Amino acid sequence: MSTIGGRLRRLRREVADFPHDLRLGVRTRAITSEYVDRAAQSNPCDPVPYRTLGAIARHMTAHGTAAPRFADLGSGLGRPLYFFADRFEELLGYELAAPIHASASAQLARVQGQRAHYRRISTHCADASTAVPLDRPLVVFLYNPFGPKPLARLCARLREANNEVHIYYANPVLMNLMAAELGQPSEVFRCDFEVAYFHLRG
Ligand SMILES: C[S@@+](CC[C@H](N)C(=O)[O-])C[C@H]1O[C@@H](n2cnc3c(N)ncnc32)[C@H](O)[C@@H]1O
Repeated sequence: MSTIGGRLRRLRREVADFPHDLRLGVRTRAITSEYVDRAAQSNPCDPVPYRTLGAIARHMTAHGTAAPRFADLGSGLGRPLYFFADRFEELLGYELAAPIHASASAQLARVQGQRAHYRRISTHCADASTAVPLDRPLVVFLYNPFGPKPLARLCARLREANNEVHIYYANPVLMNLMAAELGQPSEVFRCDFEVAYFHLRG
């Protein structure tokens, strides 16, 4: 159960994030926590703060990150996909919860006619830990979507990638596991949450 302090923090975040949704022409606020899938170790759908996405965008610019593909693993209503749509050739969202995926797909279909770069986005109802394709250089984004088993499964796949992979892991509550699987992050920076950046050279 959330505390009053926790609810106030969430409300403040929603107020700060609302103008960004307006600018992007989408609704990506928190929708529910009722779709938590304990067996799949999935976490509820709170969108990442836009400020954190802004810090990641600045990090990509500073490092000249030029991968053609972006994947949000546990994509919810698609906030990072819309935010980064003008930076990548192809943006993939993977969402396990069918009702959340249905809402995300319905919104995407509505807005794709309005902004050309939103046509680069596709969303998939699938387990992100096994579904993300690795045949092109890739930026992977995770906002703490799942528990240790799916994360270990994902890391095992990423380790085998023949292409470069940049990983931004926001609010990295399973950092020790990630570091044990992939090695220490190249950098950790902070904006609302810690963001761990891993660079796999393929
Ligand atoms: C914390 S939310 C983040 C949403 C989005 N990335 C954002 O920042 O707006 C995590 C999402 O991951 C989804 N999820 C959990 N486990 C998953 C899995 N194995 N594959 C795909 N999606 C998953 C949850 O249903 C939830 O919608």
